[in-house]
Amino acid sequence: METITMKQAAQFVGQEVHINAWVTNKRSSGKIAFLQLRDGTSYFQGIVVKADVSEEVFELAKSLGQESSIILTGVVQEDTRSALGYELLVKDIQIVGESHDYPITPKEHGTDFLMDHRHLWLRSSKQHAILTIRNEIIRATYQFMSENDFVKIDPPILTGSAPEGTTELFHTKYFDDDAFLSQSGQLYMEAAAMAFGKVFSFGPTFRAEKSKTRRHLIEFWMMEPEMAFVEHEESLEVQEKYVAYLVQSVIDNCQLALKTLDRDVEQLRKYTITPYPRISYTDAIELLNKNGFDDITWGDDFGSPHETFIASQYEQPIFIVNYPKAIKPFYMKVNPEDPRTVLCADMIAPEGYGEIIGGSEREIDYDVLAENIKNFGLDSETYAWYLDLRKYGSVPHSGFGIGLERAVAWISGIEHIRETSAFPRLLNRIYP
Ligand code: 4AD
Ligand code: MG
Repeated sequence: METITMKQAAQFVGQEVHINAWVTNKRSSGKIAFLQLRDGTSYFQGIVVKADVSEEVFELAKSLGQESSIILTGVVQEDTRSALGYELLVKDIQIVGESHDYPITPKEHGTDFLMDHRHLWLRSSKQHAILTIRNEIIRATYQFMSENDFVKIDPPILTGSAPEGTTELFHTKYFDDDAFLSQSGQLYMEAAAMAFGKVFSFGPTFRAEKSKTRRHLIEFWMMEPEMAFVEHEESLEVQEKYVAYLVQSVIDNCQLALKTLDRDVEQLRKYTITPYPRISYTDAIELLNKNGFDDITWGDDFGSPHETFIASQYEQPIFIVNYPKAIKPFYMKVNPEDPRTVLCADMIAPEGYGEIIGGSEREIDYDVLAENIKNFGLDSETYAWYLDLRKYGSVPHSGFGIGLERAVAWISGIEHIRETSAFPRLLNRIYP
């Protein structure tokens, strides 16, 4: 007899099979027990009819604690009432691991309690749905990049440079020297783009930000493409195509997860339409000032209420382009049409999710860049290799970084970024 997963049920209707599972809930009367089951691939109901099984099996079914692990034997049946459409008419149950007094019960629990039990909370259907969407976004990213001829290059995690400013670095000893955990692979990816043309990285990044918001993690995953011979506007076109592709992939391949999360799919469909609107930083400031935001003037960075308001004027994700040079990193190319600003864009997600992508065209003028490095208080020697790229066959190039967890939070429609990571690292939390 075959052992199948719940996801494979459709191919086994009417057949007797084994299924390995955990019990999420159960109810029973004198004559019948209903087991709510999961096996990691999906959810399933097991029906145990007293008249059809031995007395021991029926007693066992009635006594199973929440999260007991079992091997079921039974016949797969269609079940039009369940989300999956199938159930198991149980013939036999073998217990694998008992479970008593499971801490997470179907009643409501507080966030701290759930975070302390993250190692168990992962099993719940909402968390399973979010991480399923995360997995799909990762899969679709590799597919998109491969279809568009990008080569994956892995930049180092232990680094000596600080692409995004020196205030948010994690220090560590590197034998007798100091090193930082990577806050972005970008500078290395620029070197790689000069070797391969179109490259991307996808890996963990670290920001020692003392931010305790629904958008910030201390450790997060970033996907960073870098493209040689590509100017700013062309990079924006890649970004919108890529994000629309992610949303479409989740709509196509994560129906059950979206349903579990109550995500409005019609809303998501709007985000598959490109191009996305563009608004300049300068126009965005004007828009804010006209609408009662007098706490911000030209030169300031946006706070999340500002981003949320600007995005709320549109139906799709938007690009805010050409920020002031002074509030962006040293490597961004100055805007020839307005040298107070740089050729950059942040993509702002709708529905209050804020910035999901930061990107720019890169400065390639050796002297301007050397001057920026000095002015930003960075050590020229550390960046000598980076300046070298401007000496030997330098070409216009652009790139961007998308925060995986922010994209997952937005596409899943969930409240807080902490649920997008299996074991999130947050300010004041490194357990479990
Ligand atoms: O805007 P950022 O800082 O840009 C860079 O690091 C560039 N070097 C990227 C590039 O051009 N190659 O970060 C990019 C994205 C943000 O838009 C956001 O989605 C995410 O990374 N991000 C965070 N996500 C979660 N928690 C944090 N603390 C984050 N900081 C940035
Ligand atoms: Mg940014």
